[in-house]
Amino acid sequence: MAPPELRYNGQTVVVTGAGGGLGREYAIFFGSRGANVVVNDLGGSFKGEGQGSQAADKVVETIRAAGGKAVANYDSVENGEAIIKTAIDSFGRIDVLINNAGILRDVSFKNMKQQDWDLIYKVHVKGAYKCARAAWPYFRKQKYGRLISTASAAGLFGSFGQTNYSAAKLALVGFTETLAKEGLKYNILCNVIAPIAASRMTETVMPPDVLEKLKPEWIVPLVAVLTHKQSTETGSIYEVGGGHIAKLRWERSKGAYLKTDDTLTPGAVAAKWKNVVNFDGAEHPQGPGNAMEILETASQLPPSPPAEKLDFKGK
Ligand code: NAI
Repeated sequence: MAPPELRYNGQTVVVTGAGGGLGREYAIFFGSRGANVVVNDLGGSFKGEGQGSQAADKVVETIRAAGGKAVANYDSVENGEAIIKTAIDSFGRIDVLINNAGILRDVSFKNMKQQDWDLIYKVHVKGAYKCARAAWPYFRKQKYGRLISTASAAGLFGSFGQTNYSAAKLALVGFTETLAKEGLKYNILCNVIAPIAASRMTETVMPPDVLEKLKPEWIVPLVAVLTHKQSTETGSIYEVGGGHIAKLRWERSKGAYLKTDDTLTPGAVAAKWKNVVNFDGAEHPQGPGNAMEILETASQLPPSPPAEKLDFKGK
């Protein structure tokens, strides 16, 4: 038996950067499943130069031609209020926000200009913040909201030539995890995806035969599940692309405990290094370690033996 079709009837979905790439696929999907869609796109280049209305208009036409409901918005995500206003003015509500708009300014750290750093921050971090900030009061009032932030493997793991982009993308993880906590009691669920898919952003860095296997429409089903009214998932991070979906989480080693007195020296740390970095029996924390428990355990230890030589061997 085919699985049930997920529907979003009567809901309003705002997709930022929906004029192309992944955003276009999200917008067309939601438009085909009963949602009112705000197709936002500034219409510039992938480096964030220029602007135009064509990209968003074309996607709106596609959705309408298939019988769906959509309106265009051409503001930069930096003007999030205007984008959410389009949703409210056109459809009277907002239920789902997909923070997807993005650009690249790849350059080695040595050669990075202030403008490369600032622009990436503005589009990815400030843009996501401004859109979420404008949607939040509606989400809270109606006790319902679904928010997706778009991070990247570059943010999670680092990536050569992308210090600006990596910093911005990981910022969105912290942003979203905090929103997930603040939104929980209002049924506002917030999750992060780190996608990998063919788009104008990746077409210059990946070979055509690989891109062929990374269709942007294959990112849509995960986003559909996470933004559906039946979802309960929040504060999570997913890698998604090429037909693979996996959840990521933190891992904390059991770690080393040291007596908290003047024997807590660099040498004492080095002597216990193998415990610091050993992941045998590690835990998967949902939050910081319990400070009281840590202090209690550390205080009961004998003084750390003096270690004259630094020894960082571990595993
Ligand atoms: P894309 O370049 O095809 O789409 C991004 C869209 O955002 C464009 O249509 C662009 O006009 C729009 N946009 C850019 N700045 C904007 C602004 N200030 N306001 C409104 N719209 C703006 O790229 P793609 O691949 O679809 O990227 C979508 C998101 O996924 C981005 O956040 C990107 O960083 C992220 N991502 C994509 C990956 C991939 O493999 N394609 C990998 C990791 C992350």
